Amino acid sequence: MSSEIKSHIDKLTDELNHHTYIYYQESRSEITDFEFDQLLKELEKLEAEYPQYQREDSPTHRVGGTITKSFNTVHHKYPMLSLGNTYSKEDLAEFDKRVEKGLGTSEYEYICELKFDGVAISLTYENGLLKQAVTRGDGVKGDEVTTNAKTIKTIPLKLKGDYPASFEVRGEVFMPKEVFKHLNEERQKQGEPLLANPRNTASGTLKMQDSAVVAKRKLDCFLYSLLGENLEPQTHEAALQLLETLGFNVSPTYKKCQTIDEVFDYINYWDQKRHELPLETDGIVIKVNSSDQQKELGFTAKSPRWAISYKYKAEAAQTRLRNITYQVGRTGAITPVAELEPVLLAGTTVKRASLHNANEIERLDIRVGDLVFVEKGGEIIPKITKVNLEKRPSDSTPTQYITECPECGTELIRKEGEANHYCPNQDACPPQVQGRVEHFISRNAMDIAKLGPNTIKGLFDKHLIKGIADLYELNFENLNGLKFEVVDLVTGDVKSRSIKDKTAQNIVESLEKSKETPFESVLFGLGIRYVGKTVAEKLAEHFKNIDALMSATYEEILEVHEIGERIAESVIDFFGIEDNRQLVERLKSSGLQMEIVEQESTQDLDQVFDGKTVVVSGVFERFDRDELKSLIKSMGGKVASSITGNTDFLVAGDKMGPAKLEKAEKLGTKILSEAEFIEMSNL
Ligand code: IVH
Repeated sequence: MSSEIKSHIDKLTDELNHHTYIYYQESRSEITDFEFDQLLKELEKLEAEYPQYQREDSPTHRVGGTITKSFNTVHHKYPMLSLGNTYSKEDLAEFDKRVEKGLGTSEYEYICELKFDGVAISLTYENGLLKQAVTRGDGVKGDEVTTNAKTIKTIPLKLKGDYPASFEVRGEVFMPKEVFKHLNEERQKQGEPLLANPRNTASGTLKMQDSAVVAKRKLDCFLYSLLGENLEPQTHEAALQLLETLGFNVSPTYKKCQTIDEVFDYINYWDQKRHELPLETDGIVIKVNSSDQQKELGFTAKSPRWAISYKYKAEAAQTRLRNITYQVGRTGAITPVAELEPVLLAGTTVKRASLHNANEIERLDIRVGDLVFVEKGGEIIPKITKVNLEKRPSDSTPTQYITECPECGTELIRKEGEANHYCPNQDACPPQVQGRVEHFISRNAMDIAKLGPNTIKGLFDKHLIKGIADLYELNFENLNGLKFEVVDLVTGDVKSRSIKDKTAQNIVESLEKSKETPFESVLFGLGIRYVGKTVAEKLAEHFKNIDALMSATYEEILEVHEIGERIAESVIDFFGIEDNRQLVERLKSSGLQMEIVEQESTQDLDQVFDGKTVVVSGVFERFDRDELKSLIKSMGGKVASSITGNTDFLVAGDKMGPAKLEKAEKLGTKILSEAEFIEMSNL
């Protein structure tokens, strides 16, 4: 029986790994997404029941779920050096001369590659299995991010073909441009601050504590070097080819060049073409191909003498500033926007650039009619770097920042120390009111997916709602057949929409269902400035219900763990406004959750695992595993799925895998039997 289960787990593991590989590396599939998910669920279930058979290369590691509080520091076996940089072709020609001189021959070749804009990673494989992933860090030592790296679908957990017994491979973890764009769109919808660029986001993501979040971020990885003792490949090209046959994601953009002129051709070719690639690249890397010749040339203290990088200059263009417009955000923050004469930049037509705030306008001394330089570096949104003062029209006058809200005419305010101006008319300024409703229905708040921003706008335009509380007065009769107009933001076209009976029904049902949304999400949905999801959870946990929070003093709010003055002030301000108090009352009478639901059975448990990380493995007599895990959480602990240096306890049941036990023993993790666990928890 058990050997049958083991071989079934093996079969599912191999099958799923095969489908992952062909899907992500060959862009094809042999089964549907649904079938894949079913197989994965089956494997997850079996592994939960028989953890002793879970393989190291199990695709379930890719889903994440492990929390790492602090990452282990690991010394690199070979230092992770950087590359010499150049921005000019003359410097490159110099480099070529140095190589020729160093080798004493003109018989050498280069491999040119793109310089991927991400974060360097080092992966160690032993006997075909991924053992360790480490960031570059300071080049000598980095952070061990193995669990997070395992969530990256193109990093093989197990290799194919004829692999060296032990070796290291290095490459670049990156966030594809599309993924980054989508992530920022989502953040914008949720009213969260936007991320600056894909590289920083990839770097931050790799160091996140919760690997399940990392898995959702859809990072990718290109590999470009192979390191180890007595390895077969004698050239860099052969190494790349070997990496590819082993199942690594090697970018097909590399090229062998016999002369420096061919290198220049490569540079020119990719100068424009690189913008069509799914990831950001900021230059190219030129490497001497032969391993022996690389050795001969050796290293300086910081970088190899056999390689150099050529960086493309940040793309810049000149165009005219047609106008400065001002956008009003959900919180009332004003963002000035430069409306430009369309200009082609880095492969896209640029019409607008953010001017951030009044300080930026002052710094640039930018005026309507100016010729301006627009640049697109790593950032997605282009920026204006300077004004061409020589071309400034003689009649130009300095920009006067607006003093009134462009939407509602209210006088703007600017708090001390803040860069942005705000429109204080929270209750009647259309984008603010509408934005608050959009925030209220968003996924992390009430999650009323059936109502999108377009419908919300339609409901405002048709005077069916004036604010959040009116949502719960909508019914099938007034929604069904409602016609409204939608403006396409890109083309400016106006399209007609109407709510059909099925949609009307869905909206009513999802509003009804949202009444079960927990208090902390309702609180987050109110859109109190600086009260994000985590802060809302902390406030809900502390005050338990809305009445206690509404009547709390500034000092009482400050007492909440990790809540600072800025938040406390904002909460006090919010509930000081009569309209907001009325909103709460109306939502209360509509039946929304205004207090936290305590879990009765676990209310009085001792917090014996407070702040501790616990791994549960094996089969237990008195509890099933999930029950045990939620008990640990109720006692203040965090449950992780694999053992790391941060694990405080391993609760070990029967039939647990020997590898886990061995690891726990090696790391000195405290191991608890079921009986010891019961005793410790006073259960
Ligand atoms: S080779 C000895 N190849 O650039 C250095 N690096 O400045 C060997 N990078 O830390 C690195 N694309 O993060 C190499 N095709 C490529 C690369 C690349 C991006 C990054 C890498 C490295 C940095 C060096």
